[in-house]
Parts: sequence; structure tokens; C-alpha cells
Amino acid sequence: MTQTVERQIETLRRKIERHDHLYHVLGEPEISDREYDKLLRELNDLEEAHPEYRDPDSPTQRVSRGLLPGFKTARHSVPMLSLDNTYSLEELEQFDARVRRLLEKESVEYVVEPKVDGVAVALRYRDGRFVLGLTRGDGTEGDDITANLRTLRSVPLRIPAREAPGELEARGEVYMETRAFEKMNERRIAAGLNAFMNPRNATTGSLKTLDTSEVAKRPLQIYLFQLVRPERYGLKTQLESIAFLSRLGLRVNPANSLARGWEELRRECERWDTKREKLPYGTDGLVIKVNSFREQEALGFTAKSPRWGIAYKFGAHEAETTLKDIELQVGRTGVVTPVAILEPVTLLGTVVARATLHNQDEIERKDFRVGDRVVIDKGGDVIPKVLRVVPGGKRRGPKFVMPSKCPVCGSPLVRDPEMAAVRCENLFCPAQVRRRIVHFASRGALDIEGLGWKTVDWLADAGLVEDPADLYHLRAEDLVKLPGMGEKSAANLLAGIERSKSAPLDRLLVAIGIRHVGARIAQILAEHFGSLDALEKADEEALLGIDAIGPEIASSVVSFFSSKVGKTFVQKLRHAGVNPESKAPRRAASTGPFVRKTFVLTGTLEELSREDTARFIQEVGGKVTSSVSSKTDAVVAGSDPGSKLDKARALGIEVWDENRLKTALKKAGVVPAAR
Ligand code: IVH
Repeated sequence: MTQTVERQIETLRRKIERHDHLYHVLGEPEISDREYDKLLRELNDLEEAHPEYRDPDSPTQRVSRGLLPGFKTARHSVPMLSLDNTYSLEELEQFDARVRRLLEKESVEYVVEPKVDGVAVALRYRDGRFVLGLTRGDGTEGDDITANLRTLRSVPLRIPAREAPGELEARGEVYMETRAFEKMNERRIAAGLNAFMNPRNATTGSLKTLDTSEVAKRPLQIYLFQLVRPERYGLKTQLESIAFLSRLGLRVNPANSLARGWEELRRECERWDTKREKLPYGTDGLVIKVNSFREQEALGFTAKSPRWGIAYKFGAHEAETTLKDIELQVGRTGVVTPVAILEPVTLLGTVVARATLHNQDEIERKDFRVGDRVVIDKGGDVIPKVLRVVPGGKRRGPKFVMPSKCPVCGSPLVRDPEMAAVRCENLFCPAQVRRRIVHFASRGALDIEGLGWKTVDWLADAGLVEDPADLYHLRAEDLVKLPGMGEKSAANLLAGIERSKSAPLDRLLVAIGIRHVGARIAQILAEHFGSLDALEKADEEALLGIDAIGPEIASSVVSFFSSKVGKTFVQKLRHAGVNPESKAPRRAASTGPFVRKTFVLTGTLEELSREDTARFIQEVGGKVTSSVSSKTDAVVAGSDPGSKLDKARALGIEVWDENRLKTALKKAGVVPAAR
């Protein structure tokens, strides 16, 4: 009877492992999720009724109980190196030439693998059981993330020991598919959590999470691409070793391919240049490896990377065009930026006709002149920039010289020593005034609908506004005189302006546009001071007392409010009836674990930004300082904590992890919201 239960349990485990493999490794499920869950439940019930047959590698045991205490480090069996990069087919051809020269061969066989953008890991199996998972770390030692890797159903906890006796190590990349990443972010935002920056960050963060039940929910995937000591299994080539890994049940990339010689390799790379967009995960290139292990061995390594392999990075998105003119643009703060006017050219599906030239220094360094053929780049979604002049072209224009006067108002331009910029210091320069007003009304600021560029130009041309505060004195009878402005739109605009008077303080601070005060700092100031009056009265000392505020911001705020322009402006706003208070006036906490306690933050918290954390702690009566001393009450440690953690331990100071902090904050009534 007992025999049967034991067998029953083992049969169920095999069955579930097989379905894990079918679903998560091969992507060819044979049963529905419901049927799968039923099997898992059945196994769970049996295991609970018969604890004598418990096995840590049972499919029911992927998530460990409780929080992990942290991550120990462990040594790699052989150093985990990285690859050299090439950025063009010419460079890649040189790589092939060197390989052929060193091997004294006419033509070499290569394996071409997508370079999956994720996190490198090593998996170690002993006698068929998954015993260790490491990050790359410094290449010699990595973090032991076994518990987290166990939660990936594409990582088998058992592999056939007969085929891989003793110790087997495979290396690969943990990553997230783009779609799954986006969905996860949507869920996080809906739950009030921070969205991750990109799939790679999300992967790194997930692998460093101390709560394995949370890791299990993240859409982590793995591809194995390297077998350590393949000769032990009688394998002769990279392709064979990939097939071997796959036979063991490990997940390998089906997109890997073979290229016989340079011509095939070149064609393969060209093919991938467009094909990669169809992959469900992000790649930034290809990895090219000499297929034969005998040849790999003959080529050996340099100090930091193998000579048998190289990464081929996909071309940046560049195009050639003609520089037709250089225009100067005066920004809201008076900074004058040179802008390239280009012969329109299509790049990544959009027409590019303007691109930034950054500043005078950059133009001089690269010697851009009107009439030049230039290379422009539009990487990702950033603004296009002019990279360089195409050499050999006939020079048509004279050298570019930055004028000494503002192109809009004619005031002398002053070089800003902090930045490589020149600035028009005339606060009433029409270009600045218009930009300030547009900024004042923009989405992130007071969000006044109907106040775009065109309207602001009309208002300024008609002499109706000289600064944003004038908006509050506009009258319907003035507005209807403007081109294209009917009674209805005038009324709507006035209603929007009126509404903006009751916008929260942080929005107003953004709108005012004090240098160095963006949305985040505005929020911190608003919450700390509660009203414009209080902030206006604050001196540098008071500002520096706030953790996120450094001397640069403090001095910028104080000099704005003490300047004549600043004073007049605030006065005008006040007269117009704008004097908001912080949306959520702080009620000082008087009890709870944070009151009058000093905290120090170290390492990266997964879900909370440092600024938010500090702000939350302050909201519930605590203080956050930057260094650990005997006065510190607790240190909050995230992943990769620094020496502050060691110091805290040495001083016997309490150490909190992110979960403990979150729980305490929730209890204290501050619910961490999305950044
Ligand atoms: S082979 C000796 N193959 O790209 C290094 N790496 O520097 C052997 N990567 O951090 C690495 N896909 O994590 C190899 N198919 C692939 C890869 C790959 C992604 C990552 C790897 C490493 C970097 C290469």
C-alpha cells in the first residue's frame, strides 16, 4: 500500500515535470492550465498526507517558505567572461580574418545566436539535481540566486542523471519577453507599484528579490547557451552542445543557426538586422561563436574574453543627409541651443528634418558647417542628433560662430560656466516669455487647456501677456479679438485659467519653473512647506534640512524668491488669487515606529525609490540621514547594500529589509504609491 503511494507520488512528479517541459521549455503544451493545476493539487495533497516522501526537488517545492535572508556569494567553476563587441560588418570581417589566420584555415564554421538582453546566470546540477544558480558577479564570484531560479518552471529541478553524471554546469541568460514585461508593468501600475524601466532591469530586480513567491510571479524566462567542459560529454561542437542541453530538458534558443564561412556569416547578420524586430524579446545584437570546440581551444582567450567568439551589435539607427542651416533656439531659461535644419530624411519610419547640435563646443569639435553631408542618429525614442560630418565632402559653408547677441531680443549672450551653454539673460526676451507661458500651462504644470504655442504667440503678439501671471487678467473681450478665437473657445480658455488657480502647490511650483525644481523636487517642497508663503520664507538652512535637497537646489530656490523678478511674479500670482496649499497638508504623526527615529537607506530597494522612501518616512515622523552613526535607529537595506550595512551590523543597529519597511509604512498609514 505504502509502496503504491510512493509510486503514485513519483509518477505525478514525472508527469508534472513533463508538462513543465512541454509548456515552459518547448512551448508545446498538451494539457490545459486547469488540468495542470489539478495534477499539482493532487500531488500537493498526497505530499501533505505523506510527509515521509517529501522531496525538495518536487514540482511543489519551487517556492521557498519565508523570506530569503540575503544572497551568499559563491565561486564560479571557471571564470565567467564576457565577449568583445563589434559594431559593423567590416569589424566582423576582421574578426573572421583573425580567426582564419590563427587557425590557418580558408573558412571557419560559426554558430550565430541572438544576443538576448537579460542577465547572465550559471546553473549547476549535481547527479541530476539543480544545486546552484549564480549571477555573473565579478566573473570570479557571483551571487547565489538558486532559490529564485528554482521558481522558473523552465529551469528543471531534475535532469537525467544518467546522461549528466556528477557535476554539470550550463550558462545562459534570464530575460523577460517584451509583451509579458509590459503586461507585468500594467499590473504593477494598477496595483500602485512602480513600473520597471525595461525588461532587463525588471529581470535584475526580480532575481535579487528576497521573496521567492514574488519572483515566481514574474515572467522570467531562460535560454542556455553554453555548456561548461563539453568534452566530458564527448561533444565536439557548440551546436552539438546546444542539442545536448536541449536533450537534458534545458531551454535553448531555437533561433540559433550555423554559418559556414564569412559569406554565410555576413548574410546571416544582414538577415537578422531586420528579423530581430520580430523576436518576442529584446536583443542588441548577435553572438558569433566558432563552432568547433577543438578550434575554440586552439584560439584560447585574451585577458578578458575568448578569441573564439564575439558580439556583433546591431547598427545604431543612422542616416546620411545634408545640413541645410543652423538655427538658434532660445529656451525657457534662456539657454540658446543650435538646431540643425536638415534635408528631410526617413529614419525608423519617421521623417527627420531637425536635430540637435547640442552646443557651440560640440559644433566646433565636430566642425559642422552648413552644406555638409552629415550622419544623424535616432536611437530608440530620443531626439535625433547630428553625429558627424561625412568626410570627403566639399565644404560649402563658413565655420559656425555663435553670435554674441540673442537672435530674438538682441541682448548680449552670456556663457554659462556650469554648462557648455550660452544664455540670453533678458528675462523679458520674447522667446523666453513665450516658452515660459507655454510651460506654465503645460500638462506637467498647471495643465491649462487651449494654451498651446499658437495661442501664446497671439497673446504675446497682441501685447496681452508679458509673463504667465498676466494670464489671470485676460478678459473675454480681449480674447475674442484674436484670430480663430470664438466666444466659446475664449470662455473655455478663461475657465481653464480660472481652474488653474486651485491646482495643487507642487504643480504651481513646476509651472513657475525655478531652476533645478522639477516635478519630484516640487512635490517634496510642496509637502514639506505646505504653502507658497511658507516656501517663500524658507532660508537655505531650512531647505538643506530636507534630505533630498542639496545646496544647488536650495540656493536656486532662495535666489528665485529673493530676486526682484521672483518677488514681483509671486506677488502678481497672489493678487490674481493664486496661492495654493499642498494637496495633502501634513499631519504630524505622534506615535508609531517612525516617530523621532533616524533611518539610513542603503542599496537598491526594489519597489520604492529612495526619494519616495525618504519622503514616506518623514511623513510618518521619522528622519532619514545619509550616514550610519550611533544615533541611527535602523538601516533599511535593499539589494547590493554598501558599507553602511556593515557599519550598522558592527554597531548593532537594527537592519530592516524592504518588506519590513513597507509593512511598517502601511501600518503607519502611508501607502506607497507609484512613483
Ligand atoms: S556567450 C565568454 N551567447 O552577452 C562569454 N552570451 O558578453 C560567453 N549573451 O553577458 C557568452 N546571449 O550574458 C553568449 N547566445 C549568447 C548570449 C550571450 C546573450 C550575453 C551574455 C554576456 C554577454 C556577452
